[in-house]
Amino acid sequence: MTIENSGTDGTFLAVVLAAGQGTRMRSTTPKVLHEIAGRSMLAHVMVTARAAGAARTVVVTSPAQDDVRAHVEHTDPDATTVIQHEQHGTAHAVLSAAAEIEAAKLPVLVLYGDTPLVRAVTLSAAVDALEDRTSVVVVGFEAEDPTDYGRLLVHGDTDRSGHTSLERIVEHADATAAERAVTFCNSGIVGLRASAALPLLKAVTNDNAKGEYYLTDVVEGARTNGDRAAVVAAQEDAVRGVNSRAQLAEVEAIWQARRRVEVMESGVTMLAPDTVTLAFDTKIASDVVIEPNVYFAPGVTVEAGARLRAFSYFEAAHIGRDAIVGPYARLRPETRLGEKVRVGNFVEIKKADVASGAKVNHLSYIGDADVGTEANIGAGTITCNYDGFAKHKTTIGPRAFIGSNSALVAPVTIGEDGYVGSGSVVTKNVSAGALAVTRAPQVEKAGWVEKFRTLMSRKAARRV
Ligand code: UD1
Ligand code: MG
Repeated sequence: MTIENSGTDGTFLAVVLAAGQGTRMRSTTPKVLHEIAGRSMLAHVMVTARAAGAARTVVVTSPAQDDVRAHVEHTDPDATTVIQHEQHGTAHAVLSAAAEIEAAKLPVLVLYGDTPLVRAVTLSAAVDALEDRTSVVVVGFEAEDPTDYGRLLVHGDTDRSGHTSLERIVEHADATAAERAVTFCNSGIVGLRASAALPLLKAVTNDNAKGEYYLTDVVEGARTNGDRAAVVAAQEDAVRGVNSRAQLAEVEAIWQARRRVEVMESGVTMLAPDTVTLAFDTKIASDVVIEPNVYFAPGVTVEAGARLRAFSYFEAAHIGRDAIVGPYARLRPETRLGEKVRVGNFVEIKKADVASGAKVNHLSYIGDADVGTEANIGAGTITCNYDGFAKHKTTIGPRAFIGSNSALVAPVTIGEDGYVGSGSVVTKNVSAGALAVTRAPQVEKAGWVEKFRTLMSRKAARRV
């Protein structure tokens, strides 16, 4: 669940259109479930709508989209879904939520599930623009290439709050050459005043090039009633829709660029920001330094002063204050590093608590483990946590020293200040303060090399 159950206080009803096939994605996953920064596009839109003050969200789905409906429920327990049985256009899609619109008695804001970067301030501005004589508001943008977008035909006057008035929206397919030259376009986000919403939607016909019920026709409808339609402007990047994998990547890049700036503004240093990948929920405290090519999957928190060295990969892990991690470290889910922990190169840690001051400096695997404060884990140490059937725990006490190239066969406990000799395979618990060594004793044969060489050269001479 990504949205807390926060009741239904709010200023508008969000209707999110998600019934489209998304064929250009060439995917078995519905388009709106494709992810940006580790969260579905649909969840981005739902979260933003709630942040902008949506009382409730209704998502319009197609009959086959059981997975989308389950995802909506998981994302926001207050949200509901409706089914649009056949797709006859955007106005038709919104009308599949007619019962919810009727019951809500709130302004309606139509959003697209495949337009995930829209900002909450833009949505609140759109809702605020709806007033007595303004029945419709459209979020518009200047398009670099307006092809395929609906064109916003505006006229000179503005409403009391200074919003541009909109005369009509003409879809690309229906536009004249002169209208196609217009670059001010419809983002698709449309707001409707509460009492005007259903009458305007019901008045839309399908008399156009595509034979669809265009939501954009509510603009003319409002004007026919003597009401106004207003425009709120947004940046093109914020209203970019996703129809293909290439556009998914573009939108991801825009999201990443935006969030990196926010993270740096909050006091984090990034040596090569363009190479750092953040997740939607990454939390990084101030004075953290992030070296190049660090990847954050969802669920990561980093406390102040930590240094995240190059080429490290983190997922659902917590990194404590002043810890140093990497280069080339991998922290997997349920890893918690305490203060000043040091994790070095080619170390993988999974589901482990590594207490303050402990060091895991090189080439180790620590999984299903507790590592005590100030413990030192030597190079190449492996916690053998899996016996082919179940996972078992390794507990390493405070200040314990694990010699290099040791295998700790779990379940096993190394007591406080315990010492494991290098190269040991530890299968029994080690008492506090004790030394455990399991390797074969070293033997030495004086003068062996000379005898060996003589023997071997004689053999070689006989072969010729
Ligand atoms: C729509 C707008 C256009 C705008 C553009 C912005 C209309 C008539 N046109 O055009 O002015 O510039 O978006 O991207 O509104 N959907 C349904 N059910 C339907 C039809 C569509 O759920 O029956 C959903 C789609 O999944 C999609 C969204 O509504 O998320 C928009 O539909 P789409 O067919 O992409 O509209 P466009 O022709 O791009
Ligand atoms: Mg479209």
